[in-house]
Amino acid sequence: MTLALTNERPFAQGGNRLCFVHPDDHNRCIKVRRPDFTLEDLRRKKGFPKNLLPLSRFDDNREEFEVISALARHPGEVAFEHVSRCFGFEQTDLGAGLVLELVRDADGEISQTLKAHLWFEGYTADCRAAVERFCARWRDLQIPSRDLLLHNILVQKDSSGQISRLVVIDGLGSPNIIPFRCLPASLRQAKVERKLANMQERIEQTLAKKARGENPGNHGMATARPRSTTTQSQG
Ligand SMILES: Nc1ncnc2c1ncn2[C@@H]1O[C@H](COP(=O)(O)OP(=O)(O)OP(=O)(O)O)[C@@H](O)[C@H]1O
Ligand SMILES: [Mg+2]
Repeated sequence: MTLALTNERPFAQGGNRLCFVHPDDHNRCIKVRRPDFTLEDLRRKKGFPKNLLPLSRFDDNREEFEVISALARHPGEVAFEHVSRCFGFEQTDLGAGLVLELVRDADGEISQTLKAHLWFEGYTADCRAAVERFCARWRDLQIPSRDLLLHNILVQKDSSGQISRLVVIDGLGSPNIIPFRCLPASLRQAKVERKLANMQERIEQTLAKKARGENPGNHGMATARPRSTTTQSQG
């Protein structure tokens, strides 16, 4: 059955995808390609020589599905402490949709991004501890990722408002030709360390930007608290 999304309102959007609450399950989301920025548009934007690659190479949903399926095999269940679960594809009237765990706080609200958390609540002791736990686990599990951008990490809170989990929802996988798992352990470790160091830098940059009174931009501010009635944003 084709899911009707055209008349639904996405709860958020990124540069590439629209994110909807799954019409049949409020604990799942479904992500489709943005109709106003197609795979063809994305490939064109990349320029030569990348524009010679097949369209499938630009498809975030396809890559995310493959990467999360591989993580489910190795390291297995533990990966989902910090990565959203993936439930495969469903057909929608906006094209193939990837169904994923919708990260919600214990009060039912959709969790905010780490960027929004830092912006509105600062780098609280609770948040520092959550980042430390995340880094230790990410290091242990050696999860391949691109840059760990703060709008691609969600901050999930428990019923007392404490952070229970940081969850990466985008940017997983390794852009290299040699599969990440085939690299020597020392190189894998070095790559993971670089991504974590880079994430810490982004945290400092975001805090500095806020301190300078600058605008955070739309990216990753969609589900931000204090919440507004408009939920659209760039992710
Ligand atoms: N599983 C999820 N649970 C809760 N919120 C989510 C989830 N996935 C995405 N979001 C929200 O939607 C926004 C956009 O999602 P996502 O990063 O997947 O889109 P994208 O177009 O691939 O992003 P990018 O611009 O980084 O390429 C996120 O920043 C986040 O606020
Ligand atoms: Mg994103």
